[in-house]
Order: sequence, then structure tokens, then C-alpha cells
Amino acid sequence: MSALTDRFGRVHNYLRISVTDRCNLRCLYCMPEEGMQFEPAENLLTYDQIAEVVRAGASLGISKLRITGGEPLVRPGLADLVKQLSAIPGINDISLTTNGILLADQAEALREAGVNRVNISLDTLDPARFKFIARRGDLQRVLKGIEAAAKVGFAPIKLNCVLLKGVNEDEIAAFLRMAYEQPLHVRFIEYMPIGHADDNWRNHYLPLTRVLEIAQENGLNVAQIDDVKGNGPSDDYRIEGGKGSFGLIHPISDHFCKRCNRLRLTADGHIHPCLYWVDELNVKPALGDPAKLLELFGRAMDLKPQNHEMAAKLANESLSHEPTSRRMSQIGG
Ligand code: 5AD
Ligand code: SF4
Repeated sequence: MSALTDRFGRVHNYLRISVTDRCNLRCLYCMPEEGMQFEPAENLLTYDQIAEVVRAGASLGISKLRITGGEPLVRPGLADLVKQLSAIPGINDISLTTNGILLADQAEALREAGVNRVNISLDTLDPARFKFIARRGDLQRVLKGIEAAAKVGFAPIKLNCVLLKGVNEDEIAAFLRMAYEQPLHVRFIEYMPIGHADDNWRNHYLPLTRVLEIAQENGLNVAQIDDVKGNGPSDDYRIEGGKGSFGLIHPISDHFCKRCNRLRLTADGHIHPCLYWVDELNVKPALGDPAKLLELFGRAMDLKPQNHEMAAKLANESLSHEPTSRRMSQIGG
């Protein structure tokens, strides 16, 4: 049995690492437009410290890493971290989640450093709407980033599209068409109430149930791909005759916890066992002491809950436990 098996028999081989809580955008589902308080730089784990935590995790069975943020590409020298991580025995897959704004500049260096795959956030194909959702930056740069990612050979390229009621639901067909015409994997994601289950979330939460109907209405024949199940929270589909594919991540309308294989490391140095709940473990007191780091990973397994309760939150029911007050940008999605 793997050392990282939790109380519910789920084996953990995947660590998501947030390298910064800062971002060059202010997506409405993630941050307020003004007034975000970020961690002072001295509170962030250094790249050497991140590598130390990963070495401990790898010795227990972590083999897959994802670099996230905030926006990871705003932290200087990210390719150096990737080089360091890809040299750790046992690590065989390093991926990156980015908003794409700085990707055209960094794609090549990141690929050379050892990133295999990228997920790029793309919630709209309309420039004016991009300004409304992301509040900063511009769509053109993201599209250039996607092009650059393809050019340097990242595969597969996944696009993360958070569906927002009354904002981008009318683009589902356009995103499906994109997945049909291009060798891209479009992942539709339900808006999750992380750290701020406020009116914004209640007003804009959209269950993904419409996506398959819209595919059908547009004459696309889709079939579920079974073999990628178990790899993560997404239900994946191929489109007959198309070049790409798409996936549904619906934590609320059909929760994905039974397939959970992941732990998270926050930029300020906490192992965060579940995206949703408050529990976490500070790694800083254990740095420099490998035995203590191993013990922390074991405790993270004990803290792993069976599931989140986002659906109960939506229904205004009481929760069994306290949700995190961290924002998505501090946990890394
Ligand atoms: N709900 C769902 N997805 C979110 N993301 C950020 N905040 C939320 C949220 N509240 C997504 C972003 C990004 C990934 C890291 O998580 O679109 O692609
Ligand atoms: Fe930045 Fe990502 Fe949050 Fe958008 S979702 S504000 S791109 S961290």
C-alpha cells in the first residue's frame, strides 16, 4: 500500500504547488477588483524550500506535480524551480496552470526546464468580455500564449473555462467548436465557492448539465473517454470526427472527491489537504528535518476528508466543518 493512502483508501501521487498568490489579472470568480492583500515576498517558500518539500513527498509516492498560483509566471525565475523539481527522483510529470498572459515569453524556457503540459485559463473568446471577467490584461496575449504553447510542443494543451451564469454561458457552443476544430482539450469548470461563497457565486454559479445538450443541439456526437478517469476530477469526452476533446469538472452538481489523488502546497508553506476545508499544516517548522516533513505528509493523509460540501453550501444547508477562508489564488485551484 502506498504511504500516501488516506482513511478512505485513496492513493495520493499528485502535489499542486502554488508558487505565488499574486496575479496580473483579477478574474471575478477569484479575486476582488481592488484591494487584494498579497503575502509579503519573505513569507513565500523559496524555490529550495519547495524542492525540499517535494523531495519528501516524492519519497512517499508523489510523482506528479502541477505548478499553480495566483499566476505562477509572475514569480521570477520559475524555469529554475522547474529544473530543480524535474531532477528529483520519482517526479515524472510536471505541469503548469497559467492565465497565459506571460506564456508566449516563457513557453520555451519552461518546456526546456521540464514542464510537459500546460492548462491555460480561457473563459471567453470575446475581447470585451475578457475585460469584464479578468478585469485586466487582454485576450490577444492569452491567444498568443496558447499558440506559443502549441509551437514549443506542450501536449495536450488544456483550456480551463469557468462557466458563469449570465456571463459566458452563450459561448459553450463556440468552445465546443474550438475543441472540434483544434487539437485542444477544453475543460468546462463549475464556479466553486472557495473562500468567498458570496452573492457573486450564488448569482453566477451554473451547473454544467447544459454542455452535453448544447453539443447535441449543435450536431456533435460525443462519447465519454473512460481511460483517463482516475487521473483527476474531469469527465472527458471525445467529439466524433474532431481534433480535440472536452471535459466537465462539476464539483457541485456531481462531486469528484471519490477520485481525489491530490495534495496542495500553498505559496506561504502550508500543506492544504482539501481545496474546500480550513485544515492545513505549516511546513516551515519541519524544513531542514526530513523525518518531520515525512510525518507532515502522513498527518495530511489523516486530515483528508471524505468530501467537500459545496452542494450543501449551495442549498444553504449547515456544513459539518469549517470551510477555508483562503481564496483560490492562495491555494492554487
Ligand atoms: N471556481 C472554479 N474555478 C476557479 N478557478 C479559479 N477560481 C475558481 C473558482 N472559484 C480556476 C481558474 C484556473 C484554475 C486554477 O482554477 O480558471 O484555470
Ligand atoms: Fe489570476 Fe487565476 Fe485568479 Fe484569474 S483565476 S485572478 S488568472 S489567479
